[in-house]
Amino acid sequence: MNGMRLDERLALAVVGPPMEHDDARIRKAVDGKVVVVTGASFGQGEATARLLAANGAIVVMAARTRPRLAEVAAEIRAAGGRAHAYPLDLVNPDAVDRFAARVLDDHGRVDVLIHNAGKSLRRSVFRSALRPQDMESMVGVNFLGPMRLTLALLPAMRDGGGAHIVNIASAGVQMPTAPRWGFYIACKDGFDRWLRSVAMESKRYGITVTSLYAGHIKSRMVATGWVAMSPGHTPEQAARTVAYAITRRPRTMQPRGFTALNVARTALAAPLEVVLSIFDGRAGETAASEAAFAAAMAGRGADPASGGTATGDRADS
Ligand SMILES: NC(=O)c1ccc[n+]([C@@H]2O[C@H](COP(=O)([O-])OP(=O)(O)OC[C@H]3O[C@@H](n4cnc5c(N)ncnc54)[C@H](OP(=O)(O)O)[C@@H]3O)[C@@H](O)[C@H]2O)c1
Repeated sequence: MNGMRLDERLALAVVGPPMEHDDARIRKAVDGKVVVVTGASFGQGEATARLLAANGAIVVMAARTRPRLAEVAAEIRAAGGRAHAYPLDLVNPDAVDRFAARVLDDHGRVDVLIHNAGKSLRRSVFRSALRPQDMESMVGVNFLGPMRLTLALLPAMRDGGGAHIVNIASAGVQMPTAPRWGFYIACKDGFDRWLRSVAMESKRYGITVTSLYAGHIKSRMVATGWVAMSPGHTPEQAARTVAYAITRRPRTMQPRGFTALNVARTALAAPLEVVLSIFDGRAGETAASEAAFAAAMAGRGADPASGGTATGDRADS
C-alpha cells in the first residue's frame, strides 16, 4: 500500500477483500505445506505462487501455458523457493484426473488447494448463439473442471487429517444480474454454491473452505475497456487477499463495499436491473472482445473466451 494515493487506498478499502500484510503469519501457515495453485501462469495465481513460495510453501503450479508456467517456477526456484509446474487444462476431464493423481504421487498430500484458474467472457448472448463452444469452455474451466479436481483430491485431504480449500469466486455473483457475463457468473456462482455444501460435509474431517469473492483484479482478464479503468487490486495485492484466506480461514471474504450492497440488494434489485440494463445498452462490446470474436469466427485460432491477451503454447495434459 506504500506509495498509493489516498483515493486509491480508499477505493481498495471498498472494492477489495482484506489483504494479509504479515509475512511471518503467512510463513507460519504455509511453511513446508503442499499448496496447489491452479491458474498459476498469470495474474493473481502467479503472484500467489510467488508469495507463498517466498514464505516456505511447496507450490504446485498448474495451467495450460507450459512455457510461461515453467518460467515462473524456475524464477521461484532461483529465488530459493520450491515450485513444481504441471500442465493442466481444466476443460479436459482426463487431464484433471491425471493431474490430481500425479500431484498425490509426487507429493503425497495436499494441504491447501487454491481454485484460482478461471476464464471470463463478456459477450452478447446473441453472439454466443453462434458459438455454442463459449458455453462449453465456460462450464469446463469455471465449473466442472474445479468440481472434478476437488472430488479427486478430497479423499486424500480427509485421509491426511485435513486441508484448506480457497475458491476464488467473484463479487459479481452478488449482483442481481450481469448482462453479457451470464455464462461466467453462472458458472462461478454454481461452483461456489456446490463448494459451500462440500464445506458443510467436509469440515468434520478438518477440511475448511473459504469462498473469496474477489473484486476487480488488474490482470490480463480485464485488461481493456472501461472495466480495466475501475479501481482494483494489482495481482500482487490480490495474492495477499488469498494469503489472508489461508492465514485466517474465514468461511467467506468479500470487498467491504459489497457487504453494504448485500444488505441493500433485495430492496435494490429492481432499480439495479434498470441501471444495469441502461448501462449495458450503452457499453457495447470492448475492442478486445470485438477482435477476439472476429478472429474466432474467422477460424484463426484465437481464444474465443478471452477478452484479454492470452498467449503461448498450450497443452491438455
Ligand atoms: N480479474 C478480475 O477482475 C477478477 C474478478 C473476480 C474474480 N476473478 C477470478 O480470479 C481468478 C484469477 O483471475 P486473473 O484475474 O488472475 O486472470 P488471468 O490473469 O487471466 O489468470 C487466469 C489463470 O487461469 C488459467 N486458466 C485459464 N483457463 C484455464 C484452463 N482451461 N485450465 C487451466 N487453467 C486455466 C490461466 O492460465 P493459462 O491460460 O496458461 O491456462 C491463468 O493462469 C479467476 O478465477 C477469475 O475468475 C478475477
